[in-house]
Amino acid sequence: MPPWVAFPSLILLWADVVVAQTRVTGVVGQSVTLPCTYSTAGGIAPMCWGRGPCSLFRCSNTLVSTDGYRVTYEKDKRYRMNGIISRENLSLTIQNAALSDTGTYCCRIEFKGWFNDYKENIFLEIKPGEF
Ligand SMILES: *[C@@H]1O[C@H](CO)[C@@H](O)[C@H](O)[C@H]1NC(C)=O
Repeated sequence: MPPWVAFPSLILLWADVVVAQTRVTGVVGQSVTLPCTYSTAGGIAPMCWGRGPCSLFRCSNTLVSTDGYRVTYEKDKRYRMNGIISRENLSLTIQNAALSDTGTYCCRIEFKGWFNDYKENIFLEIKPGEF
């Protein structure tokens, strides 16, 4: 590997370790909201929600994405962004939660420039309802 490749990949390695982690619990059949907020001080940025932990580049397994102002892609009607997207509220609401929704979700804000993306992994646990 040429030396000019080694340096950026070290930064990448570090950037991947500092991904934030949050836990959310929900109940089968109800709605659950995964929080994600950001500061628009540096400008409005497009973002995406993905299923699975945040990857190095882009969203993988995209559930919803926005252009910074409104939703531009929605994989399924169960995934809703009810917050005011351009006002820093990027929360994802999953309607009619199922046990199979348990897992990690990634909130990724695509700030301009290389490796500037804000990434937050949110672990969602769906519990059976009470009988
Ligand atoms: C963001 O929007 C959600 C609705 O999707 C709401 O429940 C939540 O309270 C809002 N959060 C903030 C910080 O305004």
